[in-house]
Amino acid sequence: MKILVTGGAGYIGSHTAVELLKAGYEITIVDNLSNSSIDVIDSIKEITNKDFNFYELDVKDEDKLNEVFVKENIEAVIHFAAFKAVGESVEKPLKYYENNLENTISLLKVMQKNNIKKIIFSSSACVYGDPEELPIKETAKLTTTNPYGATKHMIERILKDVYKAETDLSVIILRYFNPIGSDSSYKIGENPKGIPNNLMPFIVRVANREIDHLNIFGDDYDTKDGTGVRDYIHVTDLAIGHIKALEKANKDIGIFVYNLGTGTGYSVLEMVKTFEKVNNVKVPYEITKRRDGDIAACYADPSLAKEELGWVATKTLEDMCYDSYQYIINRK
Ligand code: NAD
Ligand code: WQD
Repeated sequence: MKILVTGGAGYIGSHTAVELLKAGYEITIVDNLSNSSIDVIDSIKEITNKDFNFYELDVKDEDKLNEVFVKENIEAVIHFAAFKAVGESVEKPLKYYENNLENTISLLKVMQKNNIKKIIFSSSACVYGDPEELPIKETAKLTTTNPYGATKHMIERILKDVYKAETDLSVIILRYFNPIGSDSSYKIGENPKGIPNNLMPFIVRVANREIDHLNIFGDDYDTKDGTGVRDYIHVTDLAIGHIKALEKANKDIGIFVYNLGTGTGYSVLEMVKTFEKVNNVKVPYEITKRRDGDIAACYADPSLAKEELGWVATKTLEDMCYDSYQYIINRK
């Protein structure tokens, strides 16, 4: 079965490509390399010793995308391609609405044209906003507080409306919590360009002495130690979740939503202490004021994915901290 992976040169897409190839699927990757590098494509081939075609293109370009569908005989799509930086989305909302919405509408139109009926979509726990209750179930209220989150919420709505019009589709919406870590080969991982926004890439740069210290954004939240609590999930566990979602799409017609998280929340201070312990390295930090838009705590109830996909995250916070650091110190 041949899967089109949009955004497959990116962090989660590349890890999912590795797991798809390991599971025996054929893949084709399209990516405009706006937030990734062509080296990742070579790394995926090196890790798996498998070949596949890569097309550098913008998913918004319907004609070029259609050529790929026709040439590559695509049977299903996993759609990662998007911009994902919350802060940047507040500064440049139109950039996010244009890219994330237009590339999805373009993809859905080309899928329709080629009679492709299966899509797995990268959504985000940020569609829950500041949750009213924890752990978060898929039935929780959706409310978004920034343009990036709004694009995810809107795309979920687009997918639901498209399904209502074409009821022979299999649509799987996966709401990721906080992916971190790297493939066990340490040949691919999270390596954002410029100053990192997220916690783990920042910690790794501090540990690697590229940045002087970590700023912990507030220790006055109503949490176990006052710092923010999140549901960190190993990117390989997340990637395997897509294999399970594909199996579901191959079996059932319908639209399905799943939280992909571990179900356990860890604080920033717990993350720092765990990282220092498993990597035997210091991570100097200072407590600063809260970051605008941050919430105190967010972690999943992943029981529906376990029940309906047979998927459970298996890797520990120690694994995530160790793999994140090994990737950076092994980088060429
Ligand atoms: P990433 O930036 O590493 O990967 C996204 C890839 O898509 C990049 O390689 C980029 O070049 C490509 N891309 C973007 N717009 C494109 C376009 N118009 N045409 C072709 N390629 C395009 O991000 P990631 O962390 O791998 O995230 C993948 C998906 O998962 C995104 O949709 C993101 O919103 C979602 N997500 C990420 C997180 C997270 O914390 N990383 C959490 C929840 C959801
Ligand atoms: C985690 C915790 C911060 C950096 C974001 C996006 C979300 C999703 C995942 C795409 C928080 C604290 C962080 C730092 C810190 N991405 N922190 N110092 O904000 O939970 O989610 O990434 O879908 O949409 O919002 O992740 O890693 O930025 O922050 O103290 O330098 O670490 O306050 O408590 P977040 P994060």
